[in-house]
Amino acid sequence: MNQHPNHMMKALIEREQNGLLRKLKNSFPPIDFCSNDYLGFAKLGLLSKKVQESSEAGPKSLGSTGSRLISGNSHFIEDAEKQIALFHHAQSALIFNSGYDANIGLLSSVAQKTDLILYDEFVHASIYDGIRLSQATHYKFSHNDLHSLEELIGRHQKNFDSIYVIVESVFALDGDSAPLIELAEICNPGKNIFLIVDEAHAIGVFGKQGRGLCNALGIEANCFARIYTYGKAMGCHGAAIVGSEILTKYLINFARSFMYTTALPEHCIDAILHAYQLLIETDQKDALQNNIAYFYSRSGNLKHCVKTQSAIHSMKIGSNEQLDHCERALAEKNIHIRCIKSPVVKHGTERLRFSIHSFNTRSEIDALVEVLNGFKF
Ligand SMILES: Cc1ncc(COP(=O)(O)O)c(C=O)c1O
Repeated sequence: MNQHPNHMMKALIEREQNGLLRKLKNSFPPIDFCSNDYLGFAKLGLLSKKVQESSEAGPKSLGSTGSRLISGNSHFIEDAEKQIALFHHAQSALIFNSGYDANIGLLSSVAQKTDLILYDEFVHASIYDGIRLSQATHYKFSHNDLHSLEELIGRHQKNFDSIYVIVESVFALDGDSAPLIELAEICNPGKNIFLIVDEAHAIGVFGKQGRGLCNALGIEANCFARIYTYGKAMGCHGAAIVGSEILTKYLINFARSFMYTTALPEHCIDAILHAYQLLIETDQKDALQNNIAYFYSRSGNLKHCVKTQSAIHSMKIGSNEQLDHCERALAEKNIHIRCIKSPVVKHGTERLRFSIHSFNTRSEIDALVEVLNGFKF
């Protein structure tokens, strides 16, 4: 019975030989500079406490029983979406089961054969997969390079009905930010150029009460669509696309990753609402910013480090072998960090990626800086 096509074994052996075989791990060094739980909502138990308290008032369903279009919809989810739209200063919001689902649903359904998608070369795989699922022509522009983007717009605009420009407000790879103010000027719906911003790593970290970077920069109204995910700083699961009422109506009708999947159950929606409440009630965002400032006050000498104000930071190391060495050295000091290897990034730009959290202690940050300072390549 254990039969499989030949290519599977071959592909796995090739990965193993190149030192690139991925394996699931179930235990990690205890000092967390890796997870996306930037505000500690999951790790500190803040969210589970809230959810537990609310379930005492009445249990939330554990199974939604079907897609939103069949039997999985409820007033509870619709009210949650209204609150999300209000919080993010949008006309409307639509919840998806994950950020991956949101991105593939949005891009694959909105962009048509006669449209053009221009995307930053560093966008997340979920955006890229959505682009590939669409019928639109697509080109990447150099990372955060407005000249590269404007050159593409100038060259191609006359050949397409609409252009969609897509970026991350905080890039998942290095934690740096897109030039959103300039992008908001370049993208003009009157000229059929629409801006889409993935705020996965900005919600909870930037803006008033963690509303995100578009909020902090005052460009929420310039975006055609914004994507907020709940598996990072919000400490739970799911995502929402916010925009116009027409956009929501369109996605309900054409986004296949919304239409053809069982809806999130009420207890997940409840957790999302409590996470928003925690953004308002707790000072974890300030604790995170204090820790980021402390990290930079201690890491002045670090070379090859991408400086950012977000929770994500990275340090270019230069080869997969050196990365393995760094990972071991960090693990010896109980530090959990992520390695981004080639071919995920270009050879020579392999990096250590680490996230700073509200709950990291100063001595943990000192230990991280000390190990990073010891790397001489
Ligand atoms: C920028 C960005 N967008 C979307 C996603 C996908 O979100 P989710 O984990 O909720 O599927 C991620 C997750 O890694 C991400 O980094």
